[in-house]
Amino acid sequence: MDKFRIVGGKQLSGTVAVSGAKNSALPCLAAALLTPETVTLHNVPYVRDLITMRRLLEDLGCTVLVPALRTHQINAGTVDACEAPYELVKTMRASVLVLGPLVARFGEARVSLPGGCAIGQRPIDLHLKALEQMGAKIELQGGVVQARADRLQGADIEFEMVTVGGTENLMMAATLAQGTTRLINAACEPEISDLADLLTKMGAYIEGAGTSTITIEGVNALGGAIHTIIPDRIETGTLIIAAAITRSELIITDCNPQHLTAVLDKLRDAGVVIEEVNETTLRVKGNGQLRAVDLTTEVYPGFPTDMQAQYLTLMTQAEGDAEINETIFENRFMHVSELQRLGANLRVHGHQCHTHGPTLLTGAKLIASDLRASASLVLAGLAAQGETWIDRVYHIDRGYEKIEEKLRSVGAEIERIKG
Ligand code: EPZ
Repeated sequence: MDKFRIVGGKQLSGTVAVSGAKNSALPCLAAALLTPETVTLHNVPYVRDLITMRRLLEDLGCTVLVPALRTHQINAGTVDACEAPYELVKTMRASVLVLGPLVARFGEARVSLPGGCAIGQRPIDLHLKALEQMGAKIELQGGVVQARADRLQGADIEFEMVTVGGTENLMMAATLAQGTTRLINAACEPEISDLADLLTKMGAYIEGAGTSTITIEGVNALGGAIHTIIPDRIETGTLIIAAAITRSELIITDCNPQHLTAVLDKLRDAGVVIEEVNETTLRVKGNGQLRAVDLTTEVYPGFPTDMQAQYLTLMTQAEGDAEINETIFENRFMHVSELQRLGANLRVHGHQCHTHGPTLLTGAKLIASDLRASASLVLAGLAAQGETWIDRVYHIDRGYEKIEEKLRSVGAEIERIKG
């Protein structure tokens, strides 16, 4: 298993570009199952989860061409299977995103039920309940969810809680349903709007994506489309914190600051100077005094849970005390015990973590537990004195494109040790 070796305390400087959003590219790839025509996606990040999604689509019988790095041409005209096998689902929960498209287009889908994962139980009950409301018959046999429907019927679906994947699955399913579907209490994340943009280009009728009520008018068939994936807002936020935690100045390009309002506001409150150079470029100056500021994760447009670990790491370097409140996942503080090994002063009680800073971090051997926790350990390693080793960096490879190369290009001392 690969490891990272980081020598901390180096100043960063220069320009770094953000890749396409993993969490947008994943549902957009799944959406290609809705049509026999070719869907071309640009700006698909070169990360492990996207390779897994590509394998899943190929497993189902799709042809996926990659004519240029980060461009995917998916043709689902020859799909001959409707099952997402456990081997793929267990490595990537986003595999469940094929459920809606498969049952909508082929009247049948089988997807292994994902188990729990490092950050929480993460059930898919809301996806299944909503599909049932659209007329699908759902059965669970041997750990496999089977969904069948002659044709899905439009319905008013009110989600009990906001679910990003549930909104995406049902929005895709509803595009080919008979009649009108209204998704109420829908997720508003930019990734939902991006998927809706793609589906609209494919011929779907969707209104309200990006708000809490989405209306979809079903059509008989969808066609091919060409679409460019939005920038990754979580990678952008992670890079901003890389500049802040190393007291450096970085220019971050190819991003969309409008998708990061809550993150930018919070970081500015904490003393990070962030200048919006233009619509796609930020300049971060991390040389001011960092202040501890409380945080509560929320659904969009609130502060994203996917930035909590990185922010918590920044708070170890801020003056004072902060309460970090995680409201989306029940077990998303796996990074805390690793950060404590570097010397961070942190205390977890239930869904909250109390931070006290600033503390001098000193390099140690760490183990990455999940994607965003790994990112937070890399950030801590950049700030720590001496050498930090991070094991199991395959977690970070799931969602960050060549993070070590990007950081090295702006002056970080970080290398991958193959193992
Ligand atoms: C998406 O996961 C993202 N993944 C996650 O990013 C992100 O953390 C999460 O949304 C929240 O923003 C992708 O987009 C591929 P949810 P998703 O359904 O869709 C509960 C990362 O690091 N829930 O919005 O799985 C669930 O357990 C990842 O890039 C149910 O109870 O998240 C959680 O507590 C990790 N029943 C909450 O809702 C359901 O049927 C939000 O989950 C569905 C969800």
